Amino acid sequence: MGTGRVQRIGRVETGVPKLDSLIEGGFPPNSSILVTGPSGTGKTIFCIQFLLHGAKKNQKALYVALEERPCDVRREMTRFGWNLATYEKKGLFLVLDVANPRAMMPSREKYTIQAGFTPETFANRLYEIVSQNKVERVALDSLPALALACHLDKLGQIRKAIHQVNNLLLEAGCTVILVSETSDLTRGATRFGVEEFVATGVIVMTYSEKGPKLTKNMMILKMRGTKHALAKYPYQITDKGIQLQTV
Ligand SMILES: Nc1ncnc2c1ncn2[C@@H]1O[C@H](COP(=O)(O)OP(=O)(O)OP(=O)(O)O)[C@@H](O)[C@H]1O
Ligand SMILES: [Mg+2]
Repeated sequence: MGTGRVQRIGRVETGVPKLDSLIEGGFPPNSSILVTGPSGTGKTIFCIQFLLHGAKKNQKALYVALEERPCDVRREMTRFGWNLATYEKKGLFLVLDVANPRAMMPSREKYTIQAGFTPETFANRLYEIVSQNKVERVALDSLPALALACHLDKLGQIRKAIHQVNNLLLEAGCTVILVSETSDLTRGATRFGVEEFVATGVIVMTYSEKGPKLTKNMMILKMRGTKHALAKYPYQITDKGIQLQTV
């Protein structure tokens, strides 16, 4: 296992201190990692932390905002000292606004999509942005929101759409975070029960009870081609973002 201080050749640093040393230096390059868990555990913060870490190293990053409006995400991230606009101006951090079109609201964002999009038109728009801008890191937040936006209610349709989007992002050479959700791990790691099979890795961010307190824990359920432990790693959301407590 690595120390986490030196980036292993061919790994993509996560931007979350201490996480890299648990997964041989970072995510496998050109892979898709599913980040899943209940609401409020920090999945969106994880996405931005990963993307910004890349942007700071001149790796272009794209955040696909399907749930929260980009203006809300930008504002929330200032709490961690992250000024997304600075990197957006440099063309290193891109935001695709799908949240406003989903709500049939006009978007003032540079990158958006027409309301009434289908999985195909969404995938085309995504590919256009990623390939034209040579984007290296992508976070799609979230898959359940994409399914809702496209009115997909049959598992077969959802599976097809997830495959399509995942494959095109991998084909474009990106390293991808796909966000899903789950409230009860005993019923599977994800909302649709298909996402974990598509992804190269699965990270669960969840709550545990410790006496009268709730703690937040991260688990690496799967990371193909990587030696990793199956343990609960406590983490905190601090004024610097997500920090794993001990490794
Ligand atoms: N400045 C802060 N300091 C400490 N904790 C914070 C701070 N800002 C947010 N949090 C924590 O982060 C949580 C929100 O994180 P985030 O939006 O990333 O969650 P999420 O998993 O994406 O949730 P959802 O599934 O609802 O989108 C809050 O519920 C709160 O617990
Ligand atoms: Mg979120």
